[in-house]
Amino acid sequence: MTTPLVPNLTLHWDDADSHTLTGYQRHGGYSALKKAFTAGADGVIQIVKDSGLRGRGGAGFPTGMKWGFVPQNDGKPHYLVVNADESEPGACKDIPLMIANPHSLVEGVIISSFAIRANHAFIYIRGETPHPIRRVRAAVAAAYQAGLLGKNIQGSGFDLDVVVHSGAGAYICGEETALLDSLEGRRGQPRLKPPFPAVAGLYASPTVINNAETIASVPAIINNGADWYKSYGTEKSPGIKLFAVSGHVKRPGIYEAPLGITMRELITYAGGMKSDLPLKFWIPGGSSVPMLTADHLDIPLTYEDMAAAGTMLGTGTPMVFDTSTSVVKAVIRWIEFYKHESCGKCTPCREGTYWMVDILKRMEKGKAQLSDMDLLVDISAQISGRSFCALGDAAATPFPAALKYFKEEFEEVIKMAGAQA
Ligand SMILES: Cc1cc2nc3c(=O)[nH]c(=O)nc-3n(C[C@H](O)[C@H](O)[C@H](O)COP(=O)(O)O)c2cc1C
Ligand code: SF4
Repeated sequence: MTTPLVPNLTLHWDDADSHTLTGYQRHGGYSALKKAFTAGADGVIQIVKDSGLRGRGGAGFPTGMKWGFVPQNDGKPHYLVVNADESEPGACKDIPLMIANPHSLVEGVIISSFAIRANHAFIYIRGETPHPIRRVRAAVAAAYQAGLLGKNIQGSGFDLDVVVHSGAGAYICGEETALLDSLEGRRGQPRLKPPFPAVAGLYASPTVINNAETIASVPAIINNGADWYKSYGTEKSPGIKLFAVSGHVKRPGIYEAPLGITMRELITYAGGMKSDLPLKFWIPGGSSVPMLTADHLDIPLTYEDMAAAGTMLGTGTPMVFDTSTSVVKAVIRWIEFYKHESCGKCTPCREGTYWMVDILKRMEKGKAQLSDMDLLVDISAQISGRSFCALGDAAATPFPAALKYFKEEFEEVIKMAGAQA
């Protein structure tokens, strides 16, 4: 049986006014907020813990647990920071969400801030995407006007101010601590952890940083209950997720489905393979997670099953490539991206990405040798686990993963170029 799609955040995206307060409220928008105030801050944290919601920014950390790390009654200001920097190649779910349904994010921000006792929240949006920035700013302004933000929200005694911050177009500013430095007006570079942001984050105060989809998922959980959410997905990966399918499919787009749906099913929903060429490889998350092949199309898209298959669910934004794609060229493009975006703070990533691109370019120009493949594996191993943040690990991922399945293609490119020289 095919896993049915479960439109939740995407349910009303076809409405012409889905981005407005009127459009959102017509379908029950902001009713979760009342329930949250009734449940109380600890009650909300418990519901989110019980729902099993896991962060949608890539790592899948349990959201309720993260909120629970924030010290209570510590006399310090607390902050909620929404990570909407979405800059990874292939990842495109938060941007459409903020364009089509910004109020789900704003309502999620209010409920989540209430839960962690924050009176200030920040929404950090990728600077190159003005449309979602405009939509979220308009939604925040409408919420202020309707008394849903500001002082004594709906007579609850809870105050909240929200700032929508536009980033400056650096992928590293999606890394949560680099994002905090950027918000504080510094150059965005990752911070040493510990201390973790829940203890010392923005302005050295307890801070929760969550992905935009994570926070936008909160109102439906409060409205429908933890059991409703857990009735989808698996025990370790409960709930519903936005799967942004891109690449060589007939209908690329966002498909909202329970975790555990398979890639084969998602490709079917996406209209099948474009040009009807067979699939060559696919990537479950953004470009930072290892690729898989047609042999893996029936593995459930869950955090645990993807890990068992040697990859990660990541952002749940699968990229599909057919047999017209050169895996060598794809790997070069991804590593060039990481080289360009490396913040330069630590040597393995700064130097390693430079050398990987240099060797791969040599390969492309027909000036590489077969032994360069071992050199690339060695450099990847020197970067992975030895870098200051996960960007380095991500840069070290594409080549070894591609080599696992397409070694002959790399060998052919090197030999063919050698023969032509
Ligand atoms: C280089 C890099 C870029 C990242 N970019 C994003 C991003 O754009 N959005 C995001 O939510 N998380 C991003 N992350 C992950 C965040 O550091 C963090 O784990 C996430 O925002 C936590 O939210 P969650 O618990 O809701 O998943 C990035 C991590 C790294 C290392
Ligand atoms: S791994 Fe790369 S991006 Fe991360 S701190 Fe080091 S140089 Fe910067």
